[in-house]
Amino acid sequence: MRDPYLYENSDVLRNKLGLKSQKDLEDAEADYVVCKLRQLATDPIPGDYFHTHLLAMHRFLFEDLFDWAGEYRRINIFKSERVLAGLSIDYSDAFDVARDTENCLVDMQKKQWSTMSYQEAAEEMSESLARLWKVHPFREGNTRTVITFCCQYSDTIGLNLDRMLFENNSKYVRDALVAYNAVFHDAGDLSQKEHLVRIVNDGIRRKEQT
Ligand SMILES: Nc1ncnc2c1ncn2[C@@H]1O[C@H](COP(=O)(O)OP(=O)(O)OP(=O)(O)O)[C@@H](O)[C@H]1O
Ligand SMILES: [Mg+2]
Repeated sequence: MRDPYLYENSDVLRNKLGLKSQKDLEDAEADYVVCKLRQLATDPIPGDYFHTHLLAMHRFLFEDLFDWAGEYRRINIFKSERVLAGLSIDYSDAFDVARDTENCLVDMQKKQWSTMSYQEAAEEMSESLARLWKVHPFREGNTRTVITFCCQYSDTIGLNLDRMLFENNSKYVRDALVAYNAVFHDAGDLSQKEHLVRIVNDGIRRKEQT
């Protein structure tokens, strides 16, 4: 099926800037969204950390770039990953995205964060982040949105994850999310969870450090 999010005969996402080159779009998008991320870091979007809150965050980050900012994707996606030799993670089916997203968020909020050690909290936060990321609720911008969302949530439970650590290591973080979720119908469980847990653990601003 043709991807309706793309310009005709092109691999570039239709965008409000009218950019038809992938490189130009990536460059403009990266700069633009980093500004928005800075704004969110100092002025968070209030909410209850359920799905409308996540959608509001995506809308804020991408509203000047894409018409569909803040909306769940309507198609299935495949993203080729270098660390999987070009294969893609098995993201949620478009039909299941809304339900899977909400289930992840409900489970994240049910966790007994206040009783956990820092190591346990790092493992559980990695699990929540990675599971939400594997849904890939949006056509584009999932990594930035779910990381920002989980970092903001982490402030409410006293973990205070360092957003700059994720931003400054964005390639490593993406690869760690891929490694965490490398479970396939045909090839089996190839997952490695320790890379993501390590960076989340490093990102926790422990009380004695602040
Ligand atoms: N946490 C982050 N903070 C700031 N910039 C990020 C962050 N994560 C990724 N980036 C940058 O965003 C750009 C796009 O990265 P990437 O495609 O991996 O993420 P995404 O578009 O948010 O997610 P996806 O493509 O999986 O929907 C890259 O320039 C990357 O360096
Ligand atoms: Mg992307």
